[in-house]
Amino acid sequence: MELYEAIRGRRSVRQFQDRPVEQERLERILDAALWAPSAHNAQAWRFTVARGETKRAIERAMVEAAEGAEARGESLPGFKATARLVGAAPVLIAAFHFRSEPILLRETYALRELLLLSAQIQSVAAAIENLLLAAHAEGLGAVWIGYTNLIAARLKEILGEDGFPVAAVALGYPRQAPPAPERKPRPERVVLRGA
Ligand SMILES: Cc1cc2nc3c(=O)[nH]c(=O)nc-3n(C[C@H](O)[C@H](O)[C@H](O)COP(=O)(O)O)c2cc1C
Repeated sequence: MELYEAIRGRRSVRQFQDRPVEQERLERILDAALWAPSAHNAQAWRFTVARGETKRAIERAMVEAAEGAEARGESLPGFKATARLVGAAPVLIAAFHFRSEPILLRETYALRELLLLSAQIQSVAAAIENLLLAAHAEGLGAVWIGYTNLIAARLKEILGEDGFPVAAVALGYPRQAPPAPERKPRPERVVLRGA
């Protein structure tokens, strides 16, 4: 698949066929993540693949957290729907970086630390985009999941992880091709300065 075609054609897929993802495909997709750029080439990431009962435990923890938020009157649109799609997707890949402390919750950082920590998040995010594009190239559908961060402690417990959860990707064979959500026109989002 041509690169620009892959970038333009990739969609967030939230409905999946009841069809398993072949191991070789999954491995090619995970290899694409490992070839992402990373700050200082540290590759301080880990991708944990959850299926079956493990994935269902994650769904349950998310539903519980979503209902807790609802009961407190906190509006988190899409949290419960995301929990359900995690349950229905054949595979969930959770992306962690090695640092275990809840870095986003701190208020102050030494400059060097700030650089390192922000670079680590960016590195894992680059790998996640590779996962999405590779899944698309393999004829699979995938969606970036941020809501798993709201159950960070439970997610780590369920997966036996000690790193920092950055995000997750749910994937499987798409049930349909979703329409492309609009993009802002270039002049609204791209600024040119100088000659
Ligand atoms: C950081 C991040 C977190 C996201 N979290 C979720 C999520 O928890 N649930 C979900 O359904 N989609 C999630 N998405 C997918 C976005 O909703 C989607 O990318 C956006 O609507 C554009 O659609 P497209 O991916 O088809 O172009 C997330 C995307 C990003 C980049």
